[in-house]
Amino acid sequence: MRRCAIGLIGWGTVGGGVLDILHRDAAMLRDRVGLDLRVSRIVTRTPGRLPASAAHGGGVSSDIADITGDPTIDVVVHAVGGTGAAKDLLLACLAAGKPVVTANKALIAEHGDELFAAAAAAGVPIAFEAAVAGGIPVIAALRDGLVANRIDAIHAILNGTCNYILTMMEQAEQDFAEALAAAQGLGYAEADPTLDIDGTDTAHKLAILARIAAAAAVPVSAIRVEGIQAITSDDIASAARLGCRIKLIATARRTTAGLDLHVAPTLVPLDHPLAAVMRNHNGVFVEASNAGPQLFTGQGAGALPTASAVLADVVDVLIGRAAATSRHFSLFAGGTQPRTVGEAEEITGSYARFLVPDRSGVLAGIARILGDRGISVQSLHQDRPAADGRAIIEVLTHPSRGGDFLAAVAAIDAAGLTAKPTVTLRRL
Ligand code: HSE
Repeated sequence: MRRCAIGLIGWGTVGGGVLDILHRDAAMLRDRVGLDLRVSRIVTRTPGRLPASAAHGGGVSSDIADITGDPTIDVVVHAVGGTGAAKDLLLACLAAGKPVVTANKALIAEHGDELFAAAAAAGVPIAFEAAVAGGIPVIAALRDGLVANRIDAIHAILNGTCNYILTMMEQAEQDFAEALAAAQGLGYAEADPTLDIDGTDTAHKLAILARIAAAAAVPVSAIRVEGIQAITSDDIASAARLGCRIKLIATARRTTAGLDLHVAPTLVPLDHPLAAVMRNHNGVFVEASNAGPQLFTGQGAGALPTASAVLADVVDVLIGRAAATSRHFSLFAGGTQPRTVGEAEEITGSYARFLVPDRSGVLAGIARILGDRGISVQSLHQDRPAADGRAIIEVLTHPSRGGDFLAAVAAIDAAGLTAKPTVTLRRL
């Protein structure tokens, strides 16, 4: 039996989950992979809060040198958030020749090039399954199981907090703030939940998926991101009338012009597999060139699901699989980057809900502006007049250039045809 020592940095949701799983399931892992896994050292800013018995051998401290300088530590679990001190800690471990497993998506997404270069220089891997879609082994699936495929598109629900909020708004008729508070209480949300609801957390995960699926080291700033902060119960009701649900969808898609990457609230038809992904679950819908379409779904946030992914990476590192497979994906290569298409080039079906004065000529005005800009209407619905003499006009368009559609909507608002700024959504 091979004894393996883990150094754990960080004592939060993820670190606690790793200790819980090892406490309960170390014997199962021993039987299954022949490794006797122990956390032998925990480094945290608040060591006083932990009993020394939390780590085997009593190693709880606040000094990273207790991990980097300990030759008995085989692998480091880096369970620290943020991109400041967290980056220095990760680099220190690599410099000390320690393989690192991290759950920190912001760090991998924003500093991946630097970190992977440092890992290559040190000759050790960085593994990051837990950074995307929590407990779902989607990095391993893309990297290993789908290695014989070109990945043509990924459409994914990657933030448990947003999916939980949208589910609760639809099914429990909660308002946005109530649903967000519940998601925070359940441990799904980031320390700053703005990063969840404004789409930033989803964009970080999309950048990592693009790295794996398309060998694209895309800066997060190149991804167009809209969050769910403006979604109201009216939008949820409109989606239901159209036979759809609203989901925050991250898209990575190969187009003839380049790589289309965006995050946006999107109408998902109820018969699409992603529509069934509810509560805090994540879903990653992959269009693979040979295997065909596949959906990966499960818990995308929370202590045990995330720690499950961390420990899968620990095993991968210790049996040598992390180092072998990461070479396949140009993680370190400065090869040709796929071009990222701009909003003006994106082709997307769209939806708009116009609140208008209920009088003649308004519908014609909207139709003329859409038509002048080459936007083809697929269907149009006008609701009964609201009590104040206004009407709601909903338009679904055929695929068009996303920039043209948004420009048309802006022109409609600017022409004074609408009573308030128009709501738009993408369509899957
Ligand atoms: N805040 C994230 C979520 C946690 O809600 O999905 C996992 O990254």
